[in-house]
Amino acid sequence: MAESRIGEAVCALLISGGYAEYAVADEALCLPVPKPLSLLEAAGLPETYFTVYDNVFTRGRLRAGETILIHGGSSGIGSTAIQLAKQAGATVYATAGSPEKCDFCRSLGADEAIDYRAQDFLAEVKRLTDGRGVNVILDMVGGPYIQRNIAALAVEGRLVQIAFLQGPKAELDLTAMMIRRLTLTGSTLRPRSVALKAEIAARLREEIWPLLEAGTVKPIIHATFPLEQARQGHALMESSAHLGKIMLTVGG
Ligand SMILES: NC(=O)c1ccc[n+]([C@@H]2O[C@H](COP(=O)([O-])OP(=O)(O)OC[C@H]3O[C@@H](n4cnc5c(N)ncnc54)[C@H](OP(=O)(O)O)[C@@H]3O)[C@@H](O)[C@H]2O)c1
Repeated sequence: MAESRIGEAVCALLISGGYAEYAVADEALCLPVPKPLSLLEAAGLPETYFTVYDNVFTRGRLRAGETILIHGGSSGIGSTAIQLAKQAGATVYATAGSPEKCDFCRSLGADEAIDYRAQDFLAEVKRLTDGRGVNVILDMVGGPYIQRNIAALAVEGRLVQIAFLQGPKAELDLTAMMIRRLTLTGSTLRPRSVALKAEIAARLREEIWPLLEAGTVKPIIHATFPLEQARQGHALMESSAHLGKIMLTVGG
């Protein structure tokens, strides 16, 4: 951030956790607080936006006119991925665990939302795409989803794995990967060098920050807790009752 000025309000991707009143961040990983957003809202941006941008657009290579399936669509990551994929001109499908969560996904721009507890996401994807499958899947579930994700991908489709809520292991038949020329990929942010993370920051600033400045996309904050009540914040996250992000506040 070459033009940075002392006193400028920024949000930053931290090297590790951020549960603190003060933190040191690399200048290259700082981004200005977009005008329409409060500091609290801006604090909800970096971890989520770095992750979504890198995995959906760089690894997943999502382009305008393509289709994407976003699992966990009502999560912090999912609610961001839906908005950014929609703005990029994709047709967006999301999965979520209740009718209320599905409505939330649609309100963010999802063309269709699949209640995975009531419907089979693979059958729904096939139906919605006339049997072709989707071009990109962003998945945080893993485990038994992996084989079904592969089956839900179109020719030259890309499966991008960002977490394994149901485990990293599965016995797979990879024939479809070969026949339909699929890409199975994924990433994590933390082990990457500052230089690599700075590349993501620069692209976010150029391509995504104007959308935040214009209010076209925004972080969705479900609840806030004072730092001393971080435990309750974790309990809420584990209950999975939230829609979007859960934030911690510091100071008065
Ligand atoms: N790789 C990276 O660089 C990176 C970076 C940041 C975060 N992450 C990971 O990404 C994941 C999401 O992060 P987050 O902050 O968005 O967390 P979050 O808000 O807690 O999201 C988890 C979501 O997973 C959904 N879910 C749980 N079990 C599911 C299942 N069996 N099928 C479908 N959906 C299921 C839950 O929704 P339902 O109630 O609808 O099930 C919930 O919305 C976390 O696992 C996090 O560790 C990875």
